[in-house]
Amino acid sequence: MTAEPILRLEGITKTFPGVKALNDIALELYPGQVTALVGENGAGKSTLVKIMTGIYQPDAGEITLDGEPVHFPSAHAALEHGITAIHQETVLFDELSVAENIFLGHAPRTRVGFVDWKTLRAEATDILKSMGAPIDPGARLKDLSIANKHLVAVARALSIEAQIVIMDEPTAALSHKEIEELFVLVDLLRQDGKAILFISHKFDEIFRIADRYTVFRDGEMVGSGLMAETDQKKLVQMMVGRSVDQVFPKQDVALGETVLEVKGLSHPTEFDDINFTLRRGEILGFYGLVGAGRSELMQALFGATRPSGGTVTLEGKPALAKSEADAIEKGIVYVPEERGRQGAVIGLPIFQNISLPSLKKTSRNGFLDLAREFALAREYAGRLDLRASSLSQDVGTLSGGNQQKVVIAKWLATQPKVIILDEPTKGIDIGSKAAVHAFMSALAAEGLCVIMVSSELPEIMGMSDRVIVMREGRMAGEFTRDALDAETLVRTAAGIEDH
Ligand SMILES: Nc1ncnc2c1ncn2[C@@H]1O[C@H](COP(=O)(O)OP(=O)(O)OP(=O)(O)O)[C@@H](O)[C@H]1O
Ligand SMILES: [Mg+2]
Repeated sequence: MTAEPILRLEGITKTFPGVKALNDIALELYPGQVTALVGENGAGKSTLVKIMTGIYQPDAGEITLDGEPVHFPSAHAALEHGITAIHQETVLFDELSVAENIFLGHAPRTRVGFVDWKTLRAEATDILKSMGAPIDPGARLKDLSIANKHLVAVARALSIEAQIVIMDEPTAALSHKEIEELFVLVDLLRQDGKAILFISHKFDEIFRIADRYTVFRDGEMVGSGLMAETDQKKLVQMMVGRSVDQVFPKQDVALGETVLEVKGLSHPTEFDDINFTLRRGEILGFYGLVGAGRSELMQALFGATRPSGGTVTLEGKPALAKSEADAIEKGIVYVPEERGRQGAVIGLPIFQNISLPSLKKTSRNGFLDLAREFALAREYAGRLDLRASSLSQDVGTLSGGNQQKVVIAKWLATQPKVIILDEPTKGIDIGSKAAVHAFMSALAAEGLCVIMVSSELPEIMGMSDRVIVMREGRMAGEFTRDALDAETLVRTAAGIEDH
């Protein structure tokens, strides 16, 4: 590990109106090594990625590649220098084919200068084959899963013979299996001598895959070194400037009467014969492997899809929602897993994003009441520890994790009777996670019913009063809080029998 860095960033500073996103940052990347970049939501990670890929220009600072000073006035310039990225929000082109995405900006040309489609397709096929990726180069990108889109981005890195590959939270939306496949590729890239920057909020991944780390806090670089010489506690301490206990702040709440009752709920393809009740103040966890049908069940409760049979009763009244609007009216809301796409309205300020579904509450005699809208937004933004310079800021300028908090705030502000949270802390940093959990617990104590879909065992075990495990669209087990045991949950979810 005595190699010289291939890429060196020094004194990088970037200011947006009202916020210094990066202040005098330094970062080094080494060939054949994975460097993990960690930091809270809004610490400046994605901003640095955009500077390294020519999307943003720094206000100050220097970039040296192979010992030579370089500038990236455009994304194309960064690409020409062999730097490529899988961004937190994909910047590939949905309407183009897989092969076109791989070779965009550097397509093979015929002697007379036209794109050589035959070679392009053949080379794309070769690269995908060498990666063992089962993707048709002619398929349109929009028809691919997120995991396969990442593979296309990796193929693109291979096609430009990139020296530097950046991955900004590549695993956030992947299943366990897809993550394993991605890690195999990261290893290949490392063996190939590429310098890799890997951004993730998941410490198990970082400790598994990274050789080095760099920590950002509030736009400053607060530490870097070898993974072998640190541990999770030290990293978290650097990230948040204090130590965070991984304790779950679930308050003891006396459960009230039954609020929601689901009987025999079935769907033609996704789930079958689901039965459960939910009491006032209860947090009901849904655990299972990706694809177990949990999200599909929740979408049906929210009126987004049609079940084929069964009943839903809320406070004694039939409550099978016909549409999302109907569900909101009845008091059932769903915060989806993919909050980026299904959640925030980019282009609108934060406060309007939060008050949008609550307009009835914030308008007076049919007129919008700005003061009320602001008050509502301020309350929920505060309770979720949202990091923004002002609530009038366009939600699109928030960091990824903070956009997710806006979406959670927006649904909570409707003051529903039942809130369904699908993977509530995915993409949220370790410090904010505790804030989200504390808030969930407080809401339950106020009498809200919470359904929490999560694939994270500590979260499921720490926050739930009761857990339902789903497997292949059916209920595979139900456990009360005092009977929760990690091994049993995993076995039940995977369908492994006890000996
Ligand atoms: N285009 C922009 N305009 C204004 N502010 C911005 C813009 N892009 C980023 N910011 C601000 O810069 C800061 C750093 O954001 P960045 O996206 O780099 O954070 P991050 O570390 O990637 O966070 P996360 O873990 O949530 O993805 C945040 O305060 C964010 O609101
Ligand atoms: Mg980011």
